[in-house]
Order: sequence, then C-alpha cells, then structure tokens
Amino acid sequence: MTLHYQAAVLHEARSALRVERVAAAPLAPSDVLVGVRAAGLCHTDLEVIDGALRYPMPIVLGHEAAGVIEDVGSAVRRLKKGDHVILSWNPHCGHCYYCDRGLPILCEDYLAKGSQAVQFDGTCKARRASGEELKHLMFLGAFAEYCIVPEQQAIAVTRDIPFDRASLIGCGVMTGVGAALNVAHIGRADTVMVIGCGAVGLAAVQGARLAGAAKIIAVDIDDGKLALAQRMGATQGVNNKQEVAAIARRETFGRGADVVIEAAGSAAAFRTSIEAVRPGGEVVWLGKIDVNTDVTFRWGALMQEISASGARATARRGQRATSPCWRRPISTAASCWTSDHPAHQSRCDQPGLFGAARRKGDPQRDHVRITSDDRRRSAQPRHWPNR
Ligand SMILES: NC(=O)c1ccc[n+]([C@@H]2O[C@H](COP(=O)([O-])OP(=O)(O)OC[C@H]3O[C@@H](n4cnc5c(N)ncnc54)[C@H](O)[C@@H]3O)[C@@H](O)[C@H]2O)c1
Ligand SMILES: [Zn+2]
Ligand SMILES: [Zn+2]
Repeated sequence: MTLHYQAAVLHEARSALRVERVAAAPLAPSDVLVGVRAAGLCHTDLEVIDGALRYPMPIVLGHEAAGVIEDVGSAVRRLKKGDHVILSWNPHCGHCYYCDRGLPILCEDYLAKGSQAVQFDGTCKARRASGEELKHLMFLGAFAEYCIVPEQQAIAVTRDIPFDRASLIGCGVMTGVGAALNVAHIGRADTVMVIGCGAVGLAAVQGARLAGAAKIIAVDIDDGKLALAQRMGATQGVNNKQEVAAIARRETFGRGADVVIEAAGSAAAFRTSIEAVRPGGEVVWLGKIDVNTDVTFRWGALMQEISASGARATARRGQRATSPCWRRPISTAASCWTSDHPAHQSRCDQPGLFGAARRKGDPQRDHVRITSDDRRRSAQPRHWPNR
C-alpha cells in the first residue's frame, strides 16, 4: 500500500514552501523509512529558497534532521524499527575514483546526483498528487513527515538525546565541530578566530574549545550571536568589520590568529579570514556563496605560507565529521605545492564527534562511532561542487 504523507514543497526560488500531501515511492531493499521528529533550518536551505543555490524543482528541502525508523527494506541489517537516528546528507557510492582513494567526501555519484536532487539510481522518492516527481535536497528532503533513505544515511543514536538536539548534529554541529577537530590543527595554546556565529560558527566555537584553544575570538555582525558565542566558549566577541584583522593581531603579539574558521558565507568574510590569520596559519572556509561569484584577495595577504581548506560536513559510520574538500598551502614565496607539506598531514584518530553520545557498555555504541579513517587523503585541489 502506498504511503502518503505531508511535505513542505518549494516550487520556485523566492516563493513560500507549500505543505502538500505526497505519495512515497516503494521502499527499496536497502532503504529505511524514517519518521522525522525534528529538522533544523540550515542556511543552505535558505540559499536554495533565495536562488543562490540552484536545484531542480519542485523540491523538498531540509537536510538536518533526526527521527525514528518506522520500516526497513528486506536487505537492511544494521537498523530496526524503533531505532532513533540522525540523518546524514552525505551518502557515497563506495567504488568511484574518489571512494577508492579514501575520499568519499568527493564521491562522484554524490556530486553528480546531488546536483540533480535524485537518488544514486536516478529515481525520486516521492510524487505530488498530480503524479509529478518530487526532488529531495541533499538526498534527504527532511521538511516532511517521512524520509526514505538508504541505510547508510541513518545513524542510530542513544534514545536519551532529544530529537531537536540530535537533528542539529546532522549538519551545523557536524560541520563546525568537525572543522575544528578534524580539519584544522588547533593546538592547546592557539588563538582561534571564528567568523560568523550562526549554527555552524557556534559549533566551531565549541569545537575550538574542545580542541583546547587558549583564545577563541568570535566575529559576527549581530551582537546577540556574539553573546551566545561567549556562552559557548568564545573568550571575546567582535562586531566591527573594519577592525577584525587588527584585533586578531593585537591578541597575538602582532602575528594574527593561528586558525581562522569562516562560517559566515560571505566574500567579505573569506577576505577577512586571510587578513586575520598569521603567517603559516590555517584558514578553513565552511561558508558558501553563489558558485559563479569571483572572490578577490589582497595579494600581499596571500604571501605567507597560509594553508587553506574548503570543508564540508560528512556523517557516515566510520567516517570523520567534516572532511576537507581540498587543502592547499597558499604560498608564493617558495614552491611548496606538494603533498609533503606538513599542512597536508591529517590529524588522525580524533575522538569521534558522537563520542559524547556514546556511553561505555551501551550496545549501540558502534552505531554512533564516527572517527577518522582517511589517512590516505591526497592533496589534490578541489573546488566547491558545482551546484
Ligand atoms: N561546509 C558545509 O558543509 C556547510 C554546512 C552547513 C552550512 N554551511 C554554510 O555555512 C554558512 C553558515 O551557515 P549557518 O547555517 O551557520 O548560517 P546562519 O545564518 O545561522 O549564520 C551565519 C552567521 O554569519 C553572520 N554573518 C554574516 N555576514 C557576516 C560577516 N560579513 N562577518 C561576520 N559575520 C557575518 C550572520 O550574522 C550569522 O550569525 C552558510 O554559508 C552555509 O551555507 C556549510
Ligand atoms: Zn546544512
Ligand atoms: Zn563514490
């Protein structure tokens, strides 16, 4: 019997979502049916609504969610009805050029099918009442009562995590904490600057605190966000676009921040991150802007052996949370465009992001273990997926 459910559908950019009754596709053997209990609104959803990120429509947005397994396909072994799960928007095929090289974050199927908002096999998971196929953002479409996802996209967690907190781990927390623990190399006495203190930036502040940073400078254009950042571990807040780089230097005996994590999603913030980092420091760009936008940098600011990464959140069993899409030392002084550069050496064996959700003796602990396993990351340059 066909399952019908309510979903919030976007029909065109810059219009309101419409709640509609839709019909689910049959459950494939490796799929699970998830009853969505909580879903967050990430800035990426807003970028689709604004038209800055272009996807085929009609589409169901929502890619940061948690829920309960309501049904499982015949080949599903790891999950069962009633399990509480966090949903991941980052499936991978396991056998493409990048998956074979331990870089599932760059999975070719993910990039190709993700931009079409269809499943890996090209199908859609639901239809409108008219019979028209519905697209799903980032393999999820969680602004709905139900989601049908392959087993690999549902990660079981302990039942005592409230759904509204668990859902945030699916994107904002994953991205920000993962950037601080798995992409940047934050040392105990380091000064870390986080530019943009929304969901992702606040998580980066907490990640920097977990990594042991001595100073965490939060930057935002909203004082309310800065107050929150300070409650979450920032040692100071800055709301002054002109002074950001100067403050970074003032706090570090003139050097600049050891690590700058950008989570604002603006060209100005990308530029500021490069100006505020110290020579030899690290910049991690998490924010996104329209893929066709050119971003300019002051040449002098780049001539300092800075290492820059563009990073995306990843959430799969056995995978680290947030992996670099590309990582490159930026240097014009010497020829160091080689994978032997220390900045390319990944920090391995970080505790999993879900470590806090794990408990000794918990039979589900294997379900929530997310650790690094990609020592073999290469230094090949990559750019944001073209979507
Ligand atoms: N890399 C990934 O995997 C990933 C995952 C999720 C979100 N994102 C991207 O990260 C960015 C942040 O997402 P979010 O959900 O936290 O958004 P958000 O809207 O919750 O937060 C953005 C924050 O940046 C601040 N801001 C805007 N312009 C600024 C500027 N010039 N200087 C300082 N602060 C500024 C805003 O006031 C806001 O507090 C977005 O671009 C989003 O698309 C990336
Ligand atoms: Zn997101
Ligand atoms: Zn792949």
